[in-house]
Amino acid sequence: MNKIFTVVGARPQFIKAAVLSRLFKESDTFTEYLVHTGQHYDHSMSQVFFDELGLPHPDDNLGIGGGSHGRNTGLMLEKLEECMLREKPDMVLVYGDTDSTLAGALAAAKLHIPLVHVEAGLRSYNRRMPEEINRVLTDHCADLLFTPSSTASNNLRKEGIPEKRIFEVGDVMYDAVKHYSQGNQSLAEEALTEYRLTPQAYILATIHRAENTDSEENLTSILTAFDEVAKETPIVLPLHPRTRKAIESFNLEALLKRVTVIQPVGYLVMLALQQHARVIVTDSGGIQKEAYFSGKPCVTVRNETEWVELVETGWNVLVGADTGRITQAIADARAPEGAAQLYGAGDAGEQVVMRLGG
Ligand code: UD1
Ligand code: UDP
Repeated sequence: MNKIFTVVGARPQFIKAAVLSRLFKESDTFTEYLVHTGQHYDHSMSQVFFDELGLPHPDDNLGIGGGSHGRNTGLMLEKLEECMLREKPDMVLVYGDTDSTLAGALAAAKLHIPLVHVEAGLRSYNRRMPEEINRVLTDHCADLLFTPSSTASNNLRKEGIPEKRIFEVGDVMYDAVKHYSQGNQSLAEEALTEYRLTPQAYILATIHRAENTDSEENLTSILTAFDEVAKETPIVLPLHPRTRKAIESFNLEALLKRVTVIQPVGYLVMLALQQHARVIVTDSGGIQKEAYFSGKPCVTVRNETEWVELVETGWNVLVGADTGRITQAIADARAPEGAAQLYGAGDAGEQVVMRLGG
């Protein structure tokens, strides 16, 4: 049996890990030791995903969240090293680009434990994003790098990562959408009723990126756009706790009086809200792709994206934190004709497991 030591900590990682955890459970080759760093800790940011996605209860929860990047990453590194020394895994598996990813990667690399990075090779080429630093360092520590797209594979080649370490398997988030969107019709109806939304007649929005929440100017511009648009079209905004705190500290609550602000929702409700939206407006990495998977046009409130194929094919438009560009892009948003398969066939998880020896 191969013992996999998986590190998760933030919302999107629970969703990605659910895909692979299910496959590990079904295989005779792997046992998984699942560590939750504690980076996300509210029920609606963490436990809800364990409850609904069939993720195993974490073997360890380090309880490290709510601090600064350096503090969180440092504390996680120390604790993860202890856990790895005790558990002696055959490999360490990390996802994406959060502080939990980097801590897991560094701990594994320094203990010479083979490191597997799922969702490798993404680049925004904006070094001011904490995620960009996390990605670059994790990729350069990793032994096996599973990429979601040819752009991501080429980014790694440009940085001199040896070809034999790069495996282009598609996006595990596509696997997740395919798996979990089956049979959520009644959930969708309940959610639309609860939030008083009419299918195809509302906008789904999420905002949490540091560049938007930590800047009063950017957050004000974004919420002003939402306020404008909500005069005509309902906007539902599941609010990330980081953004909620920023809105309170900048006293911007008045800009939300027309917007349907809700708590962060579980993944199944989120998929349902995406499927019935007219347009999705976000600065999330995962949701840009989910918009495309559910056939919805996406307006991205950033100046650059790692998922460049979506912009090139017309599924996504980058508007930055600019009130006028956001409102115009929402008004103009249309899904393009035709659907190229940009992120694999929805079997990325199976391919990863096969490559790991399953
Ligand atoms: C993190 C990731 C980001 C990812 C996002 C997914 C890093 C650097 N950033 O950003 O890449 O897109 O998760 O959602 O790892 N908070 C709570 N309750 C929670 C979680 C967070 O109140 O359950 C608040 C705390 O004030 C915390 C702040 O949000 O300090 C920021 O949380 P943190 O995990 O550092 O970053 P995110 O913005 O969530
Ligand atoms: N998500 C969710 N509930 C919400 C908001 C997001 O289940 O209220 C899901 C979303 O569908 C996607 C993932 O969380 O699968 C994206 O996470 P997030 O936007 O926090 O992070 P990012 O992808 O930007 O790292």
